[in-house]
Amino acid sequence: MDNTVNTIRSKVDIVDIIGERIPLTAKGKNFFGVCPFHDDTNPSMCVSREKQIYTCFSCHATGNVFSFLMNYEHMDFKETLKYLGDRVGVKVEGNFTKKTSKYDKLYEAYNLSVKYYQNNLNSLLGKEAKKYLQSRNINEDVIKEFGIGLSLDKKDDLTNLLVKKGYDLATLNSIGLTTNDYDIYRNRIMFSLYDVAGKVVGFSGRIYRDGDPSQSKYINSKETPIFRKGEMLYHYHIAKEEARLKKSIIVMEGFMDVIRASTVGIKNTVALMGTALTKEQIILLKRLSNNILLCLDGDPPGVKATLNIGALLQEENLDVKVISLPDPDDPDTFIMNNGKDKFLNLMDAALNFSDYKMLKLRETVDFRSDEEKANYINTVLKEMTNINDEIHIEVMLKRLAKEFDIGYNTLEMRFYSLKKEKNSEKIVPVEVKKDIKKKDKYQKAVEQVIYFMLNNDWVISEVEKEKLILAEEKSRKLCSEIIYFYKQNGFITIADFYTYVTDKEDILVLLNSILADNYNEHVDKEELKLYFKVIKDYSIKQEIKRLTTLMKKEIDPLEQAKLAEKIRKLRIGE
Ligand code: UTP
Ligand code: MN
Repeated sequence: MDNTVNTIRSKVDIVDIIGERIPLTAKGKNFFGVCPFHDDTNPSMCVSREKQIYTCFSCHATGNVFSFLMNYEHMDFKETLKYLGDRVGVKVEGNFTKKTSKYDKLYEAYNLSVKYYQNNLNSLLGKEAKKYLQSRNINEDVIKEFGIGLSLDKKDDLTNLLVKKGYDLATLNSIGLTTNDYDIYRNRIMFSLYDVAGKVVGFSGRIYRDGDPSQSKYINSKETPIFRKGEMLYHYHIAKEEARLKKSIIVMEGFMDVIRASTVGIKNTVALMGTALTKEQIILLKRLSNNILLCLDGDPPGVKATLNIGALLQEENLDVKVISLPDPDDPDTFIMNNGKDKFLNLMDAALNFSDYKMLKLRETVDFRSDEEKANYINTVLKEMTNINDEIHIEVMLKRLAKEFDIGYNTLEMRFYSLKKEKNSEKIVPVEVKKDIKKKDKYQKAVEQVIYFMLNNDWVISEVEKEKLILAEEKSRKLCSEIIYFYKQNGFITIADFYTYVTDKEDILVLLNSILADNYNEHVDKEELKLYFKVIKDYSIKQEIKRLTTLMKKEIDPLEQAKLAEKIRKLRIGE
């Protein structure tokens, strides 16, 4: 095993690395946080400083600092090693073979297309498109930074280029670069769409000449294995650093909004790109920050979307605020017409989602009707039960009392009874359904012994001496890998062993399941013998079973007698 890898691993603290990305709270020896790998609001991820591993008790995600970063930051192993090496001052040298993905050819096709589109924009044929971009204040730097290009008014330009590069038409059709063997995008300004790791995986093409209303404004790539619209957020790969620095993430509707904000230095932004917010996108948002600023378009559909999306995010216990734009601005036009500072002012004036919701509600109420008025006050009080700030609540109650000339005490009483009602409605979260079948006594003993081996070198030697034979291949493999690792390195830690088995998928599953369970770390010799006995008894029972079936099938009476004798001996423990 590579020494640099172990050195780097031992120099970083997994608690720091994870703690920089998700809030952790210390509890006893361990740290707990909300697991970023599944949709959750409970702190079910445990990070152990002592063992330098993390384990989620809910989704069973587990691993060491490398696997955390690889999964969380979508980096490959080499990138992770470089990143951590830089932090602790260890130089990473040598050749790491790059992990190839079965989608490499697809990514490559998209890269070639970006280059082609960008070339077009710089050619003579791109003059008008360039002018259009200039009129929208999109300069050269932005064009480069966001991979903006141009598809030509030709039917098979890109198709021919990619075919010359060795792509077959069927592939190109299937990955959304061509359709029916011809270019999909014609005469459109091409915006590159990036996945969470920053690879181009799709395009959105915009018309740039006014006129033909039959043409839709944008055409987007179809869904492919590498482009799943519901699982991405535009600009995520850039926003993730920025969101950490700014401690908030701004959600916008379109990529033009994000691009505009970026030109004035506001880069902690992502765009939904016209979709309803999906579960996957919520998970992505949660990874970026708990503080979400919704800044959708100022028109009525934008307000409607803000109310819907805000409610979804609030349910996830996120802190949601709304940056409210005047109708019909979107962030792009607002910043373009009013400048950065005015936008920053709006940001400062962002409303709590609950306040925003109430404000919008007000606009629809006819206050001359007593019934509507009463309904309104009740809805407001109900909405206020989402607010966890006592002072904020008092201020609002006072304001309501004054505005509608109702006794403060009456309002307060009503508010607290609604709050009580709400709390009693809260369902106690049920234990996560364990899909793993219950482990029997034997399996538990095997896993416990393996866990002992990982925590105590001397147990490894005992297992070897004992010549334990394990029934399933997975356990056998894991056991022999532990022994091998120990012999190679002269020590064992779970975190380093984890690096070693990262790409051995079958035993990783077992290792994860063991780490997610609650096994003891330490054992004495006597107790260990008891575990060995459980394992051996099981092996003997299995062997007796096997011999008995053999005996039943045997027709030669002499052979039968031999088998019977063997079985007898096993039974009495010889
Ligand atoms: P908008 O219509 O708000 O786009 O749609 P925009 O950002 O203001 O674009 P400009 O300023 O007119 O150039 C928001 C998002 O919805 C998707 C796009 O992803 C866009 O970024 N959309 C919109 C489509 O996919 N197709 C459309 O025809 C329109
Ligand atoms: Mn716009």
